[in-house]
Amino acid sequence: RTHHLAVIGGDGIGPDVTAAALAGVRAAADRYGFAVETTDFDLGAEAYLRSGVALDEAALAELRRHDAILLGAVGDPRVPPGVLERGLIVALRVAFAQSVNVRPVRLYPGVRSPVVGVSPENCDLVIVRENTEGLYAGGGSTSHPGTPNAVAIQNSITTVAATTEAVEFAFRLAAARRKRLTLCHKKNILVHAGQLWQDVVDEVATRYPDVEHDYVHADALCLHLPLDPGRFDVVVTDNLFGDILSDLGATVQGGLGVAASANQNPRGTAPSMYEPVHGSAPDIAGKGWANPAAAALSAALCLAGLGERDAALALEAAAASVLAEMPALSGPSMGGDTTAIGDRIAKRVTDVDP
Ligand code: NAI
Ligand code: MG
Repeated sequence: RTHHLAVIGGDGIGPDVTAAALAGVRAAADRYGFAVETTDFDLGAEAYLRSGVALDEAALAELRRHDAILLGAVGDPRVPPGVLERGLIVALRVAFAQSVNVRPVRLYPGVRSPVVGVSPENCDLVIVRENTEGLYAGGGSTSHPGTPNAVAIQNSITTVAATTEAVEFAFRLAAARRKRLTLCHKKNILVHAGQLWQDVVDEVATRYPDVEHDYVHADALCLHLPLDPGRFDVVVTDNLFGDILSDLGATVQGGLGVAASANQNPRGTAPSMYEPVHGSAPDIAGKGWANPAAAALSAALCLAGLGERDAALALEAAAASVLAEMPALSGPSMGGDTTAIGDRIAKRVTDVDP
């Protein structure tokens, strides 16, 4: 069997960490007897500065023909904020109905969490973020911009359809894990959207009688997550809260060097997209220092999404085992030699016991 991967290396450290992660994917393919074919896409800052377009219909159509997309990172100081993040990443999430963003928050043995008391035994949860709606759905307007009378309106959209897709996904995941689901919102203030989320959770819960569920406000969750991560199994939440919480989760699990994510289309009607949580890191771009482990862990999520479970477990275990050999993993000092770490992960894939 052959899997066709679209590869968007993107900007800054993106292409380097993606190439290193692909070495691990190829090693896993060799070990488990499948083939991987890749197509590189020239998207990101350089392409935008050349053409003035972040993503066109032709690229979308070409990407759609692939089984999955691996993304490095986009973002460049020469491009105004939002152009690539909205015009490329958010556009792909919406175009390909990647309605859930899955972010595992797991502390691997040997990786140091900067938060006191967090250990591999109590830190293994998954944040499931609705990925296409909420405040990020984007509508809005500003009247009298740039004046003392300026008023900005930023709309938020919450539909039962998209919310149900995220909540169903989260319950299914919880049923396969420790059977606990937490809804995170701010329903005491955002009463319309919050009640819709609660209604959907209550309705879907009737189909998962083994999964217990509770509710925690988003601000309270920021308090509980670092102090007591073991309290959570699957956290389901909206787009904005999920974005913020998953960066908090990245810190709890040892930093951006280990944080992976999947933008999933749960119905399989278009390719899902896998990317490390970190950005393009312009401060270290081109130096070859970036840690590719988060990209490799994202590629492991990709293999799982393609149905290659054993290969996914082997790549995850290999990345975790190499991470345990690296000293400091949070902050700018978390880097090393991108290619050497990638090669070490790839080599470990061949003999690790997943
Ligand atoms: P960033 O994640 O790129 O970097 C934050 C800090 O962590 C920097 O000091 C960087 O050197 C370091 N760092 C990040 N990943 C690393 C790695 N793998 N190994 C070693 N060190 C690493 O976040 P920042 O600086 O806020 O954003 C830079 C650009 O990336 C911006 O244009 C931003 O919009 C974009 N961005 C893109 C994302 C994406 O493509 N999904 C996600 C986050 C930011
Ligand atoms: Mg974010």
